[in-house]
Amino acid sequence: MAHDRNPARLVGAAPGPAFEITFDGRPVPALPGQSLAAALWAAGILAWRTTRVGGRPRGAFCGIGHCFDCLATVNGTANRRACLVPARPGDTVTTQEGNGHGELAV
Ligand code: FES
Repeated sequence: MAHDRNPARLVGAAPGPAFEITFDGRPVPALPGQSLAAALWAAGILAWRTTRVGGRPRGAFCGIGHCFDCLATVNGTANRRACLVPARPGDTVTTQEGNGHGELAV
């Protein structure tokens, strides 16, 4: 179970009340202070973008803002590093395809 391995539970932390974000329209719980990547991981979601070449799935890799594997579209803005963006109530995260700017293609 993903929630049994939540670091907050392991250290006995008492964070503020959970709130909800959505991932591709699906509700996902998040805690104050969690990054979007952490909230997605805690919900068992490991991939939220596809590579530009080959369309392979990617999610968080380094977790510290260096690798850019965690790029996601957040509240309509592409190329946000989910490992660095704090989760906020009502955030909408959507799978990012390729460079995230498919709407600009001609
Ligand atoms: S996981 Fe590497 S930049 Fe976010």
